[in-house]
Amino acid sequence: MGGYALIAENIISEIKYRTNIEQLIGEYVQLKKRGTTLVGLCPFHSEKTPSFTVWPQDGHYHCFGCGAGGDIITFVRQVENLEYPEALEFLAKRAGIEIPKTVFEQDNSKQKLRVLELNRFAARWFHERLFSSEGAAGLAYFKKRRLSDKTIKCFGLGFAPAGWDNLKKAANAAGFSDNELAGAFLAAKKNNRTFDMFRNRVMFPIIDSAGGVIGFGGRVLDDSLPKYINSSDTVVFKKSRNLFALNFAKKAKAGNLILAEGYMDVIMLHQAGFSQAVATLGTALTQEQARLMARYTDKVVVAYDSDKAGTAATQRAYEILRDAGISARVLEMKEAKDPDEYIKKFGADRFAALLEGSADALSFKLRAIKAKYDLDLPEEKTACLKETASELANLESDVETDVYAAKAADDLSADKKALLSEITRLRRSRAKRRQKEELRRSGLPPSALARTEKNGKFDAICAGIIRYLFDNPADCGRVCALLADEKLPDPFWDSVLDYVKVRAPEGAIDISPLGENFTVEQMGKLSKMLSGPSPCSDMNEVGKFIDRLKLDRPIDIGDDTQLMEHISDLQKSKKS
Ligand code: GTP
Ligand code: MN
Repeated sequence: MGGYALIAENIISEIKYRTNIEQLIGEYVQLKKRGTTLVGLCPFHSEKTPSFTVWPQDGHYHCFGCGAGGDIITFVRQVENLEYPEALEFLAKRAGIEIPKTVFEQDNSKQKLRVLELNRFAARWFHERLFSSEGAAGLAYFKKRRLSDKTIKCFGLGFAPAGWDNLKKAANAAGFSDNELAGAFLAAKKNNRTFDMFRNRVMFPIIDSAGGVIGFGGRVLDDSLPKYINSSDTVVFKKSRNLFALNFAKKAKAGNLILAEGYMDVIMLHQAGFSQAVATLGTALTQEQARLMARYTDKVVVAYDSDKAGTAATQRAYEILRDAGISARVLEMKEAKDPDEYIKKFGADRFAALLEGSADALSFKLRAIKAKYDLDLPEEKTACLKETASELANLESDVETDVYAAKAADDLSADKKALLSEITRLRRSRAKRRQKEELRRSGLPPSALARTEKNGKFDAICAGIIRYLFDNPADCGRVCALLADEKLPDPFWDSVLDYVKVRAPEGAIDISPLGENFTVEQMGKLSKMLSGPSPCSDMNEVGKFIDRLKLDRPIDIGDDTQLMEHISDLQKSKKS
């Protein structure tokens, strides 16, 4: 990332020069001309009449429905679910521009290539061993687990023979050094000796979406421990950013992804025809992995183990997926501990049926709550209802709340009305607590807090001032003089102002470089500011905005009395 800050500026202008925003967005949205703008159905929320608008002149877009917006880089970040530097790379590639690498990155990429080569060599070598006499036990193990030859070949499964340095010798002979082996997590050094990391294990190569072998998992053939060894992070492998079998799953046209816990689950699922299955690599699901999935689908079925640990992991995964904008459903496998076992016991068709009816995560949670209590005991039943209400109070939609409350009341033989009123009570008290919390954090007295609720107003005033500066950069000095070195009351707009001050002398202000530090939501605020007519048409009006800001701004005082005086002054001045 570090390298980007240095090159971003000229790369950005080159990318913007060579990218036609109408063409780019046109690849995702059907655009129609409307005056000097283009409009279409927003790709970021569902709508029937177009509120998604593109301004080709200054290269920005904004949706008046959902508030999404920004420049071409923001668009790619949003639509392709990429980080800022990745979005730059995406656009550079599309425009045929090469992003120059810093010396550091060049060295690093050479090292990466070398590790990938070594991994590929090792994967082949493990695979060949599996079909040689050394690998008989490994092949027998896979057969025992009912994997077909086709599956074994497709996943490139292999065997690491017993013995301390079989792979090392073969890799050395092929020109790979001990250091390179250690760097790829294929060998370790101890007391000046280098030995193989994976010994007497069946091997699962991990392949990224570009088809590179980035790491391995290795399983023992019996019950000894550790059951699995997984590659640690290397220059080409970040556990938290990759998913097992995503290279296949991303091509599956199932419309969803299945998230399982283990390699064997995924492989069995693929063999049974569910090629949309992926697994995390021996860790809990991360936000990065959820975002990675969100690039391919907005529906994920969680098929974790049905044991206690799996149930807890399911709930965490559900929340992480939801935060990534994915709607998660949970597969409940009764009478089998995981998908691998389920398919072996009941077959692919039953699994498909299970998949069809996979309960949504909330029902799953509610069932888990119910299972904790003995409903025949009145006090336990009350506790169960309270916990159920507390869960339902998290729902944002009233319709959903009603549906689930009816279901839960029925299920727990309780009164729906009572459940609903408990939910309402909880929501109120939570809202109060949140307010208090905000108050505590802001350090302001209560009446001042009430005043900061006017922030929406400050937001519009700040945006108006900044918009004027975008349209009239030459007036920047005069506006700054009126502001008299005061900060804007909103930290976001204040940091935009800092940027504008630097850029204004150049004549035109480009929002693109701000994308490196701003989220897509913040870029949306900028696009909103740029869209539609400017609220200030001349310096006189900007002056009025700045006056309002000074008059209305929360004053920096410690106690309520002073503040009340200030407010009554204000009220008097408004009346007169
Ligand atoms: P089997 O069916 O017994 O082969 O395993 P599984 O695929 O059902 O895996 P399990 O549910 O036991 O574990 C899920 C995943 O957690 C595995 O695929 C591994 O990635 C990881 N894992 C399991 N055991 C270990 C271990 O001992 N060490 C490490 N590092 N990871 C493990
Ligand atoms: Mn298993």
